[in-house]
Amino acid sequence: MAEEETKRNSADFAEGISLDQLPDGGRLVGHFNGEDVLLVRSGDEIFAVSPHCTHYNGPLAEGLVVGDTVRCPWHHACFDLRTGEALRAPALSPIACWEVELRDGTIRVSHKREQPKPTPRGKPVAEPDKIVIIGGGAAGFAAAEILRRKGYQRGIVMLSSDDALPYDRPNLSKDYLAGAIAFDFVPLRDEGFYEENGIETHLGQAALEIDVRAREVVFASGERLPYDKLLLATGAEPVRLTIPGADQPHVHTLRSLADCQAIIEGAKSAGRTVIIGASFIGLEVAASLRARKLEVHVVAPDKRPMERILGPDMGNFICTLHEEHGVNFHLENKAVAIDDKKVRLESGDTVEADLVVVGIGVRPRLELAERAGLRLDRGVAVDQYLETSEPGVFAAGDIARWPDPHSGENIRIEHWVVAERQGQAAALNMLGERAPFTQVPFFWSQHYDVPINYVGHAEAWEKILIDGDVMTKDCLLRFKRHGRVAAVASIFRDLESLQVEVMMEREVAA
Ligand SMILES: Cc1cc2nc3c(=O)[nH]c(=O)nc-3n(C[C@H](O)[C@H](O)[C@H](O)COP(=O)(O)OP(=O)(O)OC[C@H]3O[C@@H](n4cnc5c(N)ncnc54)[C@H](O)[C@@H]3O)c2cc1C
Ligand code: FES
Repeated sequence: MAEEETKRNSADFAEGISLDQLPDGGRLVGHFNGEDVLLVRSGDEIFAVSPHCTHYNGPLAEGLVVGDTVRCPWHHACFDLRTGEALRAPALSPIACWEVELRDGTIRVSHKREQPKPTPRGKPVAEPDKIVIIGGGAAGFAAAEILRRKGYQRGIVMLSSDDALPYDRPNLSKDYLAGAIAFDFVPLRDEGFYEENGIETHLGQAALEIDVRAREVVFASGERLPYDKLLLATGAEPVRLTIPGADQPHVHTLRSLADCQAIIEGAKSAGRTVIIGASFIGLEVAASLRARKLEVHVVAPDKRPMERILGPDMGNFICTLHEEHGVNFHLENKAVAIDDKKVRLESGDTVEADLVVVGIGVRPRLELAERAGLRLDRGVAVDQYLETSEPGVFAAGDIARWPDPHSGENIRIEHWVVAERQGQAAALNMLGERAPFTQVPFFWSQHYDVPINYVGHAEAWEKILIDGDVMTKDCLLRFKRHGRVAAVASIFRDLESLQVEVMMEREVAA
């Protein structure tokens, strides 16, 4: 379908518009009964859907239409234009759909449809009696949600060592930490959802072992929970600093909601913060604490922040961007000790700090998998269906190393969207779908008002080709490896980022 620029006007779709106003491939935003509506034309078909993505409200009119789907420009969710169903995370809820009629050359929206129904899944090969999910994060929640959405009616038990119901972890270093959004936006679903959907949750309960022979999860109390299929989605935990003073109460890491709330509490009385590590999380925390008007220092061994992942130009840009917002960098340096009022650096300098946040990376939580004797490969090794070496036990998210058809390598990735999509894919494979996980990895990071989107995977590259200008926040960087584009990073080039994603998908499909 040809891509036409989206037209916006104040058209009232109840009155109707002329077919000429919506050429093939065209999109038009107007309204019906007081609600915004996006019209999309694909050949002879016309779809009317909500223009607002159900993830963070991204403008679908500026996204990419692929066949009878539309992809969100912000974080690459995908919706079915016929049913509104959220086909790809990070969106999990459908968009509204309206009935449209074309008569005598006039397009008219007639009425809003009932809550769209998800596409029914094919007949399951074997439906397990009880699915147990260890982990209430991105992968675990997305798995439970899709199981119910796709009509699985038997037992689902979700265990989480966290005391909170599943929440939007990426927000913990962004808007929620910055104080820009209320707590209501943080939980992925309210309590009622789990009850209504018969998802049994056990919060604050860590599984101690998996007895794969007996097909039981074992708790520290000795209690046992039987399963027919098991999803392991235990995520990752922050790497801790071992320098003197790192165990003091004003020194934090950030993984959980409780961690985030402790930082917010600390920020209330703090004037100066030191962030140790110029990781994505470290720098997002720096931006959020600047929004809270704290003095922020970042200490990191790198020459440029994030150069190892995004290359030198993006590294320079990120450094400049944070400096423009008042962040002080201490690069090519390390923290060697922390006392209650300052951080001592390897260079001999000291930086005053009454709040310290350590963001020096994470390591996957593999203990359960290891004790259960699952095959490990710098993560839990899974096949293309996300099944581990133990039949019936699946793994997804930050712990899983899977055969990625795009890079041709076995990779493990720590991205929100990948974890959610893997949770969904593993869940459906537990129901016998046997669909390989082939999605192109995607992540985003947000620094002040600048989003960085990344598609694909390139741990190393031969060269980076830059379209546009990084410093003016209008660019797309292509990371070339073995003569092909292994990944792209972009700022405000959302449509191109989506187009590259589709291109990568087609390469693998071919
Ligand atoms: C602050 C922050 C910001 C981030 N921002 C972004 C971003 O902008 N973009 C992006 O792509 N990614 C981001 N990420 C990374 C992303 O959140 C992770 O990749 C994603 O959460 C991984 O999902 P998961 O399900 O594998 O693990 P998690 O979401 O970590 O969930 C793991 C769950 O397992 C539970 N658990 C662990 N062990 C046990 C046990 N033994 N028994 C029971 N339960 C257990 C934990 O309590 C937790 O509920 C961010 C991460 C953090 C911490
Ligand atoms: S706002 Fe649409 S995917 Fe995030």
